[in-house]
Amino acid sequence: MKKFLITPLIMAFAVSTSIADDTAGKAAYATCAACHNADGKGLPLGNQKMAPSLVGSVAVTSDASVLALVILKGIKKEGNEYMGMMGALEAIYTDDQKLAEIMSYVRQSFGNTAGAVTKEEAAKYREQWKDVKEPVTRAKIEELTKKK
Ligand code: HEC
Repeated sequence: MKKFLITPLIMAFAVSTSIADDTAGKAAYATCAACHNADGKGLPLGNQKMAPSLVGSVAVTSDASVLALVILKGIKKEGNEYMGMMGALEAIYTDDQKLAEIMSYVRQSFGNTAGAVTKEEAAKYREQWKDVKEPVTRAKIEELTKKK
């Protein structure tokens, strides 16, 4: 009896801990989908959008530390191009594994082909940005993505 139980348990564990796992990433993406839409292209709202497309976004696909910064601290709202606001989500992604999963998911979905992010890397980015108290500006994102 035990044998039958253990095998699926091990399999479930293997799936939930795999970094590029789609199921965990997809679940974590539900938060983002509210504005960026399930297809990553931004939820349309009338003739505007809630949020920009993540498809081919350099903030997503360049050095992963930039994506971590955007997710953890949000983006300073400087215009009315989008209906939504990119708020700081660090209170939602307090777990390094969860942060790694959501980052890997957006970097490898919607046609994006950037590298996956490990739990250790996610922890490193969190540490890197820990003293940032304000949402990041567009100018800062541009500077960070250019450096690459
Ligand atoms: C409440 C709505 C909302 C939610 C939820 C949200 N975002 Fe955003 N996001 C925005 C808006 C609005 C912008 C544009 C910010 C600006 O320029 O003012 C944005 C911008 C971004 C950008 C920059 C894209 C670019 O190239 O300009 C990235 C990357 C991003 N979001 C990722 C995410 C991820 C990943 C999640 C989930 C963990 C998420 N967002 C959740 C609204 C949201």
